[in-house]
Amino acid sequence: MFSQRTNWQLSPNALTRAIEEARASGQPILDLTISNPTEAGIHPDTNVVLAALSNPKAMHYDPQPRGLLAAREAVCRYYRESHGVSDLDPDRLILTTSTSEAYTYVFRLLCNPGDEILVPKPSYPLFEFLADLADVKLVPYPLLYDHGWQIDFDSLYKAVSPRARAIILVHPNNPTGSYISSNETLALNSFCSKHALALIVDEVFLDYSHDATPRCSFVANSDALTFTLSGVSKISALPQMKFAWLAISGPTPIVAGAEARLEIISDTFLSMNAPVQLAASVLLDQRKPIQPILLGRLRTNLAELDRQLSVYLSCRRLQVEGGWYTVLRVPAIESDEALAIRLLREASVSVHPGHFYDFPSEGYLVLSLITEPGIFREGVTHLLQQVE
Ligand SMILES: Cc1ncc(COP(=O)(O)O)c(C=O)c1O
Repeated sequence: MFSQRTNWQLSPNALTRAIEEARASGQPILDLTISNPTEAGIHPDTNVVLAALSNPKAMHYDPQPRGLLAAREAVCRYYRESHGVSDLDPDRLILTTSTSEAYTYVFRLLCNPGDEILVPKPSYPLFEFLADLADVKLVPYPLLYDHGWQIDFDSLYKAVSPRARAIILVHPNNPTGSYISSNETLALNSFCSKHALALIVDEVFLDYSHDATPRCSFVANSDALTFTLSGVSKISALPQMKFAWLAISGPTPIVAGAEARLEIISDTFLSMNAPVQLAASVLLDQRKPIQPILLGRLRTNLAELDRQLSVYLSCRRLQVEGGWYTVLRVPAIESDEALAIRLLREASVSVHPGHFYDFPSEGYLVLSLITEPGIFREGVTHLLQQVE
């Protein structure tokens, strides 16, 4: 009855079953995996957001394939104010309900069934599903850790076959927290233009640079065809609003072709709703109070982790430049999944095992830094005692 592309493993894995059992037994869990800001005590201004959503203009239906101009202009203002990009043309933007939808549009634009997209490893687990749904094959390219994360260019170059269409970059990456450096950008642009590959750049965590140094966005990248994806789910900690976008840049003739085709893809779905688009400017402005709070929390939790790690020899934290996660290197004496289950059962701590993110070996745990600091502190204490 069903398509092969939906032949996923539908039964819950061992860790999910262990979490369900723990919850059912009433066991309190110190959850160090929360990435939903609305469950981590991070609240944009309720009155301001709800007032913006009740604009009477929303009673008029104005179907615009790229999204309402006022909303796209609000996105341009975000890039001008936060990233110094002053000349982003609103016509280069297509609004989507999520970056997942934006990925799907771009995969549909670029790929025939069976074509290949290169993805960083380790990285965001949802790529597998997005690729399955678009009949695209993912080809991993490794990130190497040596005093910080970097792209393994030799392996990337070898992974490119004639069916490759694009390289995905996550800037900064989830969960490694590593940004694409300017030297890496140069190399990627030259490789992509030589091999007719596009760049698909996920910048949802761009603004969360831990050292407060602003990092460059790819929205102005013009040396290769580039699709830059972002949205308010992370920028303003408003994932429930479903407001995201993709920006198109690159050499002029190819950008014009991409824009025209994407406009038709987007026109086919017209998935944006009026209230959210009319509130776009207010939703984006929520970043101004929210980002300092979130950045403060990321730094507090990271400092607490380092303080506690300083007395343990067997675990260490990998370097992180930005984003909401941190990676712990732990002794690889059992599988990461077995360790995560043991931590849950014996220390009441929930963490993500590295294999969720396709780490190359055992011995990695991922913690969310947006966790409420009291829970984070206690959870890390339990975790380190148990691992040690
Ligand atoms: C790298 C990355 N991209 C995108 C998203 C989700 O963004 P959206 O809510 O816009 O689909 C996440 C969510 O955690 C993420 O980690």
